[in-house]
Amino acid sequence: MGTVFLAHDPVIDRDVAVKLMTFTRTMNVSERRKYIERFLREARAAGRVSHPNVVQIFDVGFYEDIPYIVMERVRGITLHDQVRRLGPLAPEEAVDVGVRICDALEAAHASGVLHRDVKPTNVLITSDGGVKLVDLSIAKLQDAEITDTGETWGSPAYMSPEQIKGDELDARTDIFSTGATLYFAVTGERPFTGANVAEVVNAIMYRKPVPPSSRNPGVPQSLSDVILRCMEKDRDNRFDDAGALKRALLACAERKRLPTPARLSEAPEYLDSFSRTWMIFTEKTSSLRRTLKEPRKRGLMRRIVDYFFS
Ligand SMILES: Nc1ncnc2c1ncn2[C@@H]1O[C@H](COP(=O)(O)OP(=O)(O)OP(=O)(O)O)[C@@H](O)[C@H]1O
Ligand SMILES: [Mg+2]
Repeated sequence: MGTVFLAHDPVIDRDVAVKLMTFTRTMNVSERRKYIERFLREARAAGRVSHPNVVQIFDVGFYEDIPYIVMERVRGITLHDQVRRLGPLAPEEAVDVGVRICDALEAAHASGVLHRDVKPTNVLITSDGGVKLVDLSIAKLQDAEITDTGETWGSPAYMSPEQIKGDELDARTDIFSTGATLYFAVTGERPFTGANVAEVVNAIMYRKPVPPSSRNPGVPQSLSDVILRCMEKDRDNRFDDAGALKRALLACAERKRLPTPARLSEAPEYLDSFSRTWMIFTEKTSSLRRTLKEPRKRGLMRRIVDYFFS
């Protein structure tokens, strides 16, 4: 839907990202005026959403009739690239990303703005481990152009069934796309695939995705169920809003998060047999490593430790 340039604003002296929208010149004058009015209206609404997990819009304008958006420049990589490079996220990391997406969506929805295009390339993981949702409402900015010129969408892979049908949308379309995004995060695969756009659309409309826990046995059943519920075809069967999804994700985290020694001393109720084993394991490892510092005890011991712990 556009091209992103990394740029510098010399007036404020800050780095920015500029998204130049695709804009067809086949519109007639009245279509163009309608499009521009709508673009500005939507951009103003998106620009009013201010939240640490939402990429801030600084300005919008036109360059030779082509609409552009100036936004906060994020240093980091997209969730898509992160998963492609390093493989699926661990369940607790995915929960963390999901919770922050929910925080961003809650702020947007409270301002009456739907994202409409939550997908792994629109989730930016910052270099300090933060999460920023980008392209808020951009899909809507493009709507007028699509309907006026008959142009088709890009990939619908993360769109909800109601979005594909062109129905009136509500917050639950973003819940669907967040679920599809988390599915990709924990499996490295899209939930709905096909050889062409028609097949992908068909899968979104009629096929149940393979559960994430079947694709990746490391995904706990509770998290797998939450992700599947987001992607129910009937929106009445999904979570009602981003707050409800966030609570469900946090409940998975409570069940699954591995206690660290520091947390164990703060909250002894988390002590279970697994964490005891884990603590014994770490103690033994460090005592073995200490032993290895003594020159006489190297040799066989060193080989055993390297074999098991390197
Ligand atoms: N605010 C930003 N700061 C830094 N990099 C960004 C920012 N916004 C986008 N990018 C980078 O630009 C790339 C292209 O973004 P763009 O939105 O054009 O593509 P997309 O999300 O893959 O697809 P679509 O065109 O459907 O939105 C992103 O993958 C991301 O790496
Ligand atoms: Mg994008």
